Amino acid sequence: MPNLFSPYTLKGVTLRNRIAMSPMTMYRAQDGLMNDYHMMLLGSRAAGGFGLVFPEQLAITADGRTSVTCAGIYDDAQLDGLSRATAMIRSMGAVPAIQLGHTGRKGSSLKPWEGGAQLSPDHPDGWQVTGPSAVPYGGKHTLPVHSLSRAEIRQLHKDYASAAIRAHQAGFEWLELHFAHGYLGASFFSPLANQRTDEYGGSVENRLRFHLETLDAVREVWPERFPLTIRLGSDDLHKDGIQFDDAIVAVAAMKGHGVDLADLSLGFNTDDMSERPFNQLAFMVERGSRLRREVDIPVGVSWNLGVPALANRVIEEGAIDLVFLGRPALSNPHWPVWAARELGHGDPFSLLPQDWSFWLDSHRAHDAALGWPKVGSPAS
Ligand SMILES: Cc1cc2nc3c(=O)[nH]c(=O)nc-3n(C[C@H](O)[C@H](O)[C@H](O)COP(=O)(O)O)c2cc1C
Repeated sequence: MPNLFSPYTLKGVTLRNRIAMSPMTMYRAQDGLMNDYHMMLLGSRAAGGFGLVFPEQLAITADGRTSVTCAGIYDDAQLDGLSRATAMIRSMGAVPAIQLGHTGRKGSSLKPWEGGAQLSPDHPDGWQVTGPSAVPYGGKHTLPVHSLSRAEIRQLHKDYASAAIRAHQAGFEWLELHFAHGYLGASFFSPLANQRTDEYGGSVENRLRFHLETLDAVREVWPERFPLTIRLGSDDLHKDGIQFDDAIVAVAAMKGHGVDLADLSLGFNTDDMSERPFNQLAFMVERGSRLRREVDIPVGVSWNLGVPALANRVIEEGAIDLVFLGRPALSNPHWPVWAARELGHGDPFSLLPQDWSFWLDSHRAHDAALGWPKVGSPAS
């Protein structure tokens, strides 16, 4: 029976364990370029024992970023930073993964801690936002939306493919398409944002066309031996939006277009959500497990899985295949080692690079002075 620390193989890629650092937009890039900050962030998590490490969502076009401080993969000049990141992640024993995305009608924004308001196209840091229909998101995202023409949609498929080629050149071995959280893919899927009357709107099949065509364009250039995965917004938490049954239909269709694993999420396609489960423990697991069963596809989920026993249990019970950690990865770069100690792993430091674990295992420090709370102590 696999547990959190069992290796996981998908296509030609084997992860050393079932723990992924989930993509997190950090607002630290300049001109879409990653820099030393990203090396620090990603390298430390890879060294901390994560099996799969994602940088933030990488924009496929400049206007696909959330803000001017978001990283991109739309220019060859960005390859250097991306390649440094993959080399760093790999040298620490993890697999480098990339999430490609386009923020659609939620782009052109200020950083969240600067208020997150949208900047109009005449602001030096703003641009015209786009979507399936001329329907603004609402809330802080009030800019008029340019409804994409068919020719512009075809160009976006090419942009996704170019980004996938660059991702391969940069050394990524796992590619996820971001179709969640109210960004462009989520907008095409959701009737809340997609009011088109052509072949990209209306029925579920039509609202999925953008995704399936994107998958085809990417699968053509992305090596077959590397996993192609999606992050899907599986429920808008709104009576007129995506319902979970739609997500089952969507992932089944995407599986037929080369998707190897579904990373499920939900919400953020409208501020008007009927519930906000976002601080509930493991609330995505049941949905993930149902999808895994009904579509027969590997599944990963995030959302409040940073409790070691819980994360281990959902793998042991076969509910999901991979545990994605966002905030726990921010708060504890060594989360996997900590979890291994908590769960009674025989050699937690074996999760670290050998040149660290050697010192920790062979030159044993006093347990209380090691920098970790003693297992089972009130502080742990
Ligand atoms: C700072 C921050 C930035 C995020 N950026 C992204 C992103 O770029 N792409 C994405 O799919 N999810 C993003 N997320 C969501 C996380 O990947 C994750 O799904 C979410 O935080 C729930 O997992 P957690 O409970 O382990 O934090 C972000 C979350 C945080 C906290």
